[in-house]
Amino acid sequence: MNGSTYHHSRDNPLSHNLRLTQFSEVTEADRRQILRIMESPPKVVGVPEFGPVVLVVEDNEILKQGIQLLLEADGFSVLSAGNGLEALEQIRGTCPDLILSDISMPEMDGYAFFDAVRANPEWVAIPFIFLTARGNRDDVFEGKKLGVEDYLVKPINRQELIASVRSRLARSQELLLAQLQQAYQASLIMLSNAIELRDQYTRGHVERVMDFALTMANEMGWNSMQKSALQFGSILHDIGKIYIRESILRKPGRLDEEEWAEMKQHTVIGAELIKNIPYLASALPIIRNHHERWDGKGYPDGLAGENIPLAARIVAVADSLDAITSSRVYRQACSLEQAYNEILRGRGTRYDPSVIDVFQAAWPEIAHYLQK
Ligand SMILES: [Fe+2]
Repeated sequence: MNGSTYHHSRDNPLSHNLRLTQFSEVTEADRRQILRIMESPPKVVGVPEFGPVVLVVEDNEILKQGIQLLLEADGFSVLSAGNGLEALEQIRGTCPDLILSDISMPEMDGYAFFDAVRANPEWVAIPFIFLTARGNRDDVFEGKKLGVEDYLVKPINRQELIASVRSRLARSQELLLAQLQQAYQASLIMLSNAIELRDQYTRGHVERVMDFALTMANEMGWNSMQKSALQFGSILHDIGKIYIRESILRKPGRLDEEEWAEMKQHTVIGAELIKNIPYLASALPIIRNHHERWDGKGYPDGLAGENIPLAARIVAVADSLDAITSSRVYRQACSLEQAYNEILRGRGTRYDPSVIDVFQAAWPEIAHYLQK
């Protein structure tokens, strides 16, 4: 995708190289870098003043000009070429957002041109639509073998042309956004795990909490928006620990009163860190309230019962389960049965009884995951 029409609002978060290493104190530079990653959620935006750029490749001059006029009337910028070779020259100069190409052309036909475009990694994602002669089934079949998704059958009418180009651009934008979301989530998981490793959790804590929580959410029939908030909340639940001293996080014995007060602050600090990032705002209740208890004896707000956000009640169970089943510095991991029973003992005191019902229903799947 070229920079003229759609672009990621900032650089890819995966390109950041997080310096944070296991068991090290977090420096101010680390913190700034972590915040920078969090504040770079994926966004794909249009640049309206130019309009998407469409490259029209057609050897019939009249048809080419006709298509060009129709597209320009609808706000597109149009580049044109009379065959595949000319089109490749055009792409080298300005990378289009979409290609509309005839099949039968002199010098280089549509199939050879399509192959050349897809062979270049920079052009591999450009949406491609073939123009095919009416009723030519062989054309369609050949195109399908090449992996082309769209055809426009000549003679082309305006409505069909614009609808097809717009829907193909929209699909490609959705795909790009999904890829960026994945990269962003991977970055958040990486940095959150780096932070959890300063604590006494074992590698992969964040993914496990997320998987346990999602398994329970599936059991409850949550929709994709609810699950997305749960995912980000699970990933970032302890993000506030970047401001907690290592000597407290890794202290083998009991924390004294002052240390405990500092430790508890990770929930409030984490919520503060993300409150101005709209993309992550739905994760805020989880980050702030994942240490609340059903009986009201938790922190930081001392919320009780259903006043605790449901997603935070789920993550509380998921987080505890991973703490119990993972090896700690000062305690060996316990058996699956012991872990299951320990969670159940918290029913109605630490944990929401209805979440424990869900946990019990989801247990075969969770246990299967833990045995892997
Ligand atoms: Fe926590």
